Amino acid sequence: MAGQLVLVIDFGGQYNQLIARRVRECGVYCEVVPYRISADEIAARQPIGLIFTGGPNSIYGENAPRPDPKIFELGIPILGICYGIHAMAYTLGGKVVPVAADGKREYGKTTTHYDGNCKLFDGLPSVGISWMSHGDSIAELPEGFEIMAHSDGCPVAAMQNVQKKFYGLQFHPEVTHTENGTQMIRNFLYNVCGANGDWAMGDFLRIQEEEIRRRVGDGKVLLALSGGVDSSVLAALLERAVGDKLTCVFVDHGLMRKDEGDEIERIFGGGAMHFVRVDAEKRFLEKLAGVTEPERKRKIIGEEFIRVFEEEAKKIGAVDFLAQGTIYPDVIESGLGDAAVIKSHHNVGGLPDYVDFKEIIEPLRLLFKDEVRALGGELGLPDSLVWRQPFPGPGLAIRIIGEITKDKLDLLREADAIMREEIANAGLMYSINQYFAVLTNMRSVGVMGDGRTYDYAIALRGVVTDDFMTVDWARIPFDVLNKISVRIVNEVPHVNRVLYDITSKPPATVEWE
Ligand code: XMP
Repeated sequence: MAGQLVLVIDFGGQYNQLIARRVRECGVYCEVVPYRISADEIAARQPIGLIFTGGPNSIYGENAPRPDPKIFELGIPILGICYGIHAMAYTLGGKVVPVAADGKREYGKTTTHYDGNCKLFDGLPSVGISWMSHGDSIAELPEGFEIMAHSDGCPVAAMQNVQKKFYGLQFHPEVTHTENGTQMIRNFLYNVCGANGDWAMGDFLRIQEEEIRRRVGDGKVLLALSGGVDSSVLAALLERAVGDKLTCVFVDHGLMRKDEGDEIERIFGGGAMHFVRVDAEKRFLEKLAGVTEPERKRKIIGEEFIRVFEEEAKKIGAVDFLAQGTIYPDVIESGLGDAAVIKSHHNVGGLPDYVDFKEIIEPLRLLFKDEVRALGGELGLPDSLVWRQPFPGPGLAIRIIGEITKDKLDLLREADAIMREEIANAGLMYSINQYFAVLTNMRSVGVMGDGRTYDYAIALRGVVTDDFMTVDWARIPFDVLNKISVRIVNEVPHVNRVLYDITSKPPATVEWE
């Protein structure tokens, strides 16, 4: 890596890759490394700055992750965020205490007062909203530090030691709830670390291409192509890197949206790329019969996927690498690293223990959705593909609450197609980041004509988001919702009620399972 590097030292927080992504947004190359990294290993990589992340622990906890104290002697600027500021204060001799004696955490949007003399707050208003989420706070500063921000509940919302270039923030500048948070990170990078902004997505492409070529050598690669944004971008990246050593396998598990399988075949099947479509509907539905538990569904689908790939790989012969379009939110929410498990995303947590390939390659693993899209643009893919709404690997299986049957799938496909059509008619397909129908497991009484009905309720979901880690529910106009609702109950048999999901993430998730 010839250019400048920032290392994000991972203490297990949910937002760690969001920090990395903000750094990349500021034009600086960045990698996330585990907190166990030694000072020598850090020094060898010559980073221009370090960022200590948040994390779920208390610094005094039994298994609290602690940084190598020698890191503070390297002369490299450090920014500590949330748990990171505690790790810094504790290691350098300050005192960290629980926020409240009853163990409550300070959580949420907080009015915060900033000292304009701090380089992090350069050019920013002296008062603003910050996002706090912590159980401990700093009671005594380490020697040489001064307080640079405070809120009502948090006397040390920011601290600095200008001489050593050590900075700490109790709140999370990386989340969008913190006003001017990205600018604070930018200020750290440019005003403190001396960043020159020499990094762009084109570099990522070049680095990944070389890395893939080097790893694959003369081997053959099999790609799990779902036709979604991630695997399509990966297909283009791999084709560019290894050309005809790549075979793309599209497993049609029968859990796709209406007409989707044929569309995927039309887009990828015609050209020079080796493309195989496997009709696996029957075997997936057999495995899923009677299964109602969401995590079980995910695991079964993930595992069956791999089995199908293995079989296809054997047909092709001597396949060394399985490529997957896993992106960062899949990784973090599956609870890899030290963060808590939310769902085991297919591609990651769903992997069986034994996989009959030499290696799995996941070049998009560190990117967020919009970064994958930017990469797709860089690779010259058409906007219609790059701006497709995401579709989860387990498909409609996680949009049918309870048992999955072919009839329910067909019903949901029709309802979902109506919703997509009406969203397109209203010109909203790019302003709502993801929208779909869910078949709830609830039946209720209705009246149609003169008769009583006892049929299913369909829930509609629409979300707006930058990164799918947090989302807001989309304010779809009532007349559009009305059109969708009227059409669904009229056109889809066995549906007599339509609901609209008005929860954000958190506390809900995008998908219902
Ligand atoms: P959740 O439901 O976790 O969804 O808030 C966030 C985003 O991830 C998609 N998603 C998945 N994508 N495999 C995928 O490839 C999965 O298992 C999976 N589960 C959720 C979801 O559609 C949304 O865009």
